[in-house]
Amino acid sequence: MSSLQNIVTSKYICMEECHISSILEIENQSYDYPWSEKIFQDCINHNYLCRVILIDNVLIGYVISSIVQDECHIMNLCIKDDHRRSGYGRYLLDELHKEVIKINCKLVFLECRPSNRSALKLYKSEGYNEIGIRKNYYPAPNGAEDAIMLAKNVKE
Ligand SMILES: CC(C)(COP(=O)(O)OP(=O)(O)OC[C@H]1O[C@@H](n2cnc3c(N)ncnc32)[C@H](O)[C@@H]1OP(=O)(O)O)[C@@H](O)C(=O)NCCC(=O)NCCS
Repeated sequence: MSSLQNIVTSKYICMEECHISSILEIENQSYDYPWSEKIFQDCINHNYLCRVILIDNVLIGYVISSIVQDECHIMNLCIKDDHRRSGYGRYLLDELHKEVIKINCKLVFLECRPSNRSALKLYKSEGYNEIGIRKNYYPAPNGAEDAIMLAKNVKE
């Protein structure tokens, strides 16, 4: 099946507690400083916007955002490594944009490591612009790494 057909048959749904074990596997494979189980649990409990993509009931990606007034802050977006480069990251972002527009968000923003070239390319190709730097935002082997802040207006 082509990746386009897979996207058509995939499901973008709310994250639930039963998804956390699959999420942790992806999270631990994907980041040097992964989120803990408690962080994911807290995001669900505190009503963050937590969404997952399932293909044939297998979880292959997730996005977590917080909504404050008309702004959406993407805090984590991740695709399982063996499903990358197939359009799922873009799909997840597009679904999130559609959803937050419906709840009247005007701006979506996020932080990204300058070293994360693939994520930066995705965000820029989706219309995000660099709006600043957060100094020493991320943990890194030699202390800390700055974050690039990116933002996109989703509604005029
Ligand atoms: C960043 C991430 C979410 C992208 O997901 P993905 O499903 O592979 O992305 P897509 O297939 O939708 O790609 C969309 C675009 O992103 C860019 N891109 C994605 N991966 C890339 C790579 N390895 N090299 C170069 N460009 C890349 C390309 O512009 C691509 O468009 P194209 O395929 O038309 O060239 C994924 O690599 C990931 O989960 N990384 C680990 C977690 C992470 O870093 N999250 C972001 C935190 S800020």
